[in-house]
Amino acid sequence: MINRNFICIIGGTGHVGAPLGLALSSKGYHVTLVDKNQKNIRKINNGVMPFVEDGCAKLLKKMVYKKKIFATSKLSEVKKSKYIIVCIGTPINKKFRPNLKSFLSFFYDLKKYLNKEHIIIIRSSIYPGVCNKVFNIVKSRCKNISYCPERIAQGKSLTELPKLSQIVSGENRKAIFESEKIFKKISKKIIHTKIVEAELIKLFSNAYRYINFSISNQFYLISKSQGLDFFKIRNIMRDNYSRNIDIPSAGFTAGPCLLKDTMQLSSFNNHKFPLFRSAMSINESLPQFIINKLNEKYNLKKKTVGILGLSFKAENDDIRDSLSIKLLKKLKSKKIKTLQSDEYYKNEENIDKNTLIRKSDIIIIGTPHKAYKNLKIKKKKVLVDIWGLIKK
Ligand SMILES: NC(=O)c1ccc[n+]([C@@H]2O[C@H](COP(=O)([O-])OP(=O)(O)OC[C@H]3O[C@@H](n4cnc5c(N)ncnc54)[C@H](O)[C@@H]3O)[C@@H](O)[C@H]2O)c1
Repeated sequence: MINRNFICIIGGTGHVGAPLGLALSSKGYHVTLVDKNQKNIRKINNGVMPFVEDGCAKLLKKMVYKKKIFATSKLSEVKKSKYIIVCIGTPINKKFRPNLKSFLSFFYDLKKYLNKEHIIIIRSSIYPGVCNKVFNIVKSRCKNISYCPERIAQGKSLTELPKLSQIVSGENRKAIFESEKIFKKISKKIIHTKIVEAELIKLFSNAYRYINFSISNQFYLISKSQGLDFFKIRNIMRDNYSRNIDIPSAGFTAGPCLLKDTMQLSSFNNHKFPLFRSAMSINESLPQFIINKLNEKYNLKKKTVGILGLSFKAENDDIRDSLSIKLLKKLKSKKIKTLQSDEYYKNEENIDKNTLIRKSDIIIIGTPHKAYKNLKIKKKKVLVDIWGLIKK
């Protein structure tokens, strides 16, 4: 029996799926989180969030207690739900090409449970044409496919979902109407677009941010090469000069989305995307640049280098595609003695931030966690602060 009040989220224990499921369950829907990750399934069903996401820990406990949300690995659960929201990953391979194999093969698995009453909402970040490929796979059983991209900043889902305009696009009127009905419950405003426009809006947004950050990173590299303080220059650029107000900070531009989605866009455009190549070579070069600069002044083999912050962004525990981790690995591969610490990401090699500061000769701020803002670091220590976090 299909139930209009039931929503199944595939990839439901992941960073997009779980917060979305919680937001929808808090609006009265009965949410089933379908996932392959047994560890996360157990955690969710015990009312424990598998990762850091503002506000989710408390809401999860409440929704599990109310029996409004539960996690399972059984895909057959979709038979009970009218709505199926797909939030599984859309990775890229080593040749910078989207690896759609597992994404598309999921829809072959899903197909056998579908009927014409289902509404399939794709939420993963995909490039133009992918929605259509999915439609061709499942159309003999269900034609109601929509694409409603997720645009939240990781860590801020519950506060951003109600504020962001939700883009809704679909293969037919029923898919559009029904998807709008769902998202109206949790979003401020609905905007209708063509599917291809929605696919591009998502990728352009992430590519824009990725390239934008690379501008500041390039300015940081130029300033550093001249022995100058980029953050002082940036502050003056913005002082009483509104045209520069939005220039981002320098820093490690990383994480599972920005680079990957810019790559998806590049691949979609037959790699005719020189801005992307430049942005990637700048952003990804920062760890090596830091090592080179330190090498010019110090014999790193005789120093202890401490990295404060390993996650890819502040106030988060996610290390996927973290440049801080890339830096750590590079240092270790050169047999340089390293120490590591993080406020959120747990690892048995981590030590407390104050011990790290005491024991390290060189301290690198890898992630701008708030806890590092007011740290007291003695003048005799070398501080590398690519984020301009610590006030001088
Ligand atoms: N993380 C973000 O902030 C964010 C924001 C917007 C969009 N996105 C996009 O959303 C998608 C998911 O990203 P994420 O960060 O949530 O990834 P994630 O790895 O945290 O979550 C994906 C989940 O899907 C599960 N999964 C994979 N294949 C499955 C299958 N066949 N059946 C059931 N479960 C399966 C995984 O076990 C995992 O739990 C990606 O396309 C990503 O680009 C992510």
